[in-house]
Amino acid sequence: MKKLLILLVFTLTLFGSSYENGHFLYNAKGCSNCHGTNAEGSNEVPRLANKSKKFLVSKLKGFQAGIATNQNQQIMIGFAQGLSDKELDDITNFLSTYKQSSNKKYKLSEDVMGGY
Ligand code: HEC
Repeated sequence: MKKLLILLVFTLTLFGSSYENGHFLYNAKGCSNCHGTNAEGSNEVPRLANKSKKFLVSKLKGFQAGIATNQNQQIMIGFAQGLSDKELDDITNFLSTYKQSSNKKYKLSEDVMGGY
């Protein structure tokens, strides 16, 4: 059973479904409201696009554990805690390999109808 699960996860990853799901979650979980549609960030909010997977995961796990090194970061604790391990994995796969053109695939109606 475990092997089957690993195979399934591998297959999904192979076909980019983790990336797609990460993209969906990035919008659905509200990340894009602050970090920008293209994960480009702004003055107060850091860019996330194409930062390393390792960095993003360690930051988010830290926020989940309630670690914030400045006041700005405290806002992230609640958002990070709202992510399951799988969601965190998908979002960071999406962000660390971000391709701007893929944004065109998503229209609002697709997000709303996205099956979640
Ligand atoms: C209400 C605005 C807001 C929302 C929504 C939000 N963030 Fe953040 N995020 C921030 C701020 C502010 C920081 C920290 C800035 C700092 O370090 O001073 C941050 C930091 C981060 C960092 C660390 C980046 C770095 O370079 O240090 C990651 C990763 C991150 N957010 C991911 C996410 C994800 C994934 C979501 C959606 C689940 C999300 N954020 C939703 C505002 C937000």
